[in-house]
Amino acid sequence: MNLPMAPIRPGAAGLSPGEIAEMTDEVRALAAERNAVILAHNYQVPEIQDVADYVGDSLGLSRKAAAAEGETIVFCGVHFMAETASILCPEKTVLIPDLDAGCSLAASIDAEQLADWRTTYPEGVVVMYVNTTAEVKALTDYCCTSANAVEVVRHIYETHGPDTEILFGPDMWLGAYVEKELGRPMHVWDGECHVHAGIRPSDIEATRAAHPGADFLIHPECGCTTAVMEYVAAGDISAEGVHMLSTGGMLKYAQHAEEEIEHGHPKHSQVVVATEIGMLYPLQMAAPDVEFIPANAEASCQYMKMITLPKLRDSLRDMKFEVRVPEEIAVRARVPIDRMVALG
Ligand code: 13P
Ligand code: SF4
Repeated sequence: MNLPMAPIRPGAAGLSPGEIAEMTDEVRALAAERNAVILAHNYQVPEIQDVADYVGDSLGLSRKAAAAEGETIVFCGVHFMAETASILCPEKTVLIPDLDAGCSLAASIDAEQLADWRTTYPEGVVVMYVNTTAEVKALTDYCCTSANAVEVVRHIYETHGPDTEILFGPDMWLGAYVEKELGRPMHVWDGECHVHAGIRPSDIEATRAAHPGADFLIHPECGCTTAVMEYVAAGDISAEGVHMLSTGGMLKYAQHAEEEIEHGHPKHSQVVVATEIGMLYPLQMAAPDVEFIPANAEASCQYMKMITLPKLRDSLRDMKFEVRVPEEIAVRARVPIDRMVALG
C-alpha cells in the first residue's frame, strides 16, 4: 500500500544553545500567562521535551490530558494526539504548533473504510490503536496503545467470550504481536507506520552481529517484531534480553537499568533500541551509564519533528492552531478512549 510520507523539513537544529535558552524562557513565561500545560511525546526534539510540563507515551499523554489543570493544552506531538486531548477535555483550548504534523499510521484507515469493514463483520468488536482520527474513534468500541493493546484485547475475550471476533487496526505489526501473545487470530487491518515498518529484520541482524549480548527494546509497531518473536521462539535470541515495549515502557526499563548500575549490579551496558530515534534522548537522560544503540538510525518521524521551539512559542503567543473535535463526534469517540483509560 502507498503510505503518505511527510516532507523532510528542517527542525530547530539551527538554534544556538543561547537561542534555545532564551526561547525556553519565553515559552515558559507565555505558558504561565496563558495558564497552559505543555504536553510532549517522547519522539519530540530535545528542546521541546526539556520545556514541556510532561513528556510521555500515548497512554500517559491521554491520562495527563484528561487530568490537566489550566485552560489550555499545547500538544507537542501529532494531530491525532491533540484530537484525543480535545475529546477528553472539551472545555479546554487545545493547540498544536503545526497543523501539518500528521501520522502515516492514522492516515491508513478512514471512517468510511472502517464503516465498510464493520459491515463485513457485524458481530465484531472493533479495537483501534489511538493513532487514528477522531472520526475513526467514533466508530470504535475500544481504543488501545502499544502499552496496553494485549490487556485490552484480553479483557474483551474475558468479558465477551473467547470466540469473539475482533477487528483490530490499523497497525498490522502490533496486531500480529497481540495475536501471538494471546494465541488467537483477529481480523487485522493492513496499515503501518512508515517509520517503524522501516525497521526491518535485517536491522536487528546487523545490530545483533555488531553488539553481541546487548538487550533489545522493540516497539511493537516495528516491521521486525514478527522476526524477533520467531528468533526468540527458535532460541536464537534469549527471551530474557528482548523487551517489546511502548515508549513509556522503554523509559521504565532505562530507569531500572540505571538503578542497577547505581547499586553496583550492572546487567545491561548496551541496549539496541528499535523505535523512532527521538526516543534515544529521554532514554539517555534516564540512564546516562547505558549505551543505547538505534536499530536503524534513519528511523525519524518527520511529522514529530515538525514541532519546533519557535513554532511552540508562536503557538502560545498567538493561540494557534486550535484543534477542536466537534461535539457530535467527540461524544462517540470518548467512549472507546474512556474504556481504554479505565482499563489501565
Ligand atoms: P507510544 O508512545 O504510545 O509507544 O506510541 C508510539 C508512536 O508511534 C506514537 O506515534
Ligand atoms: Fe505516526 Fe509513526 Fe510518526 Fe508515530 S512514528 S507519529 S505512528 S508516523
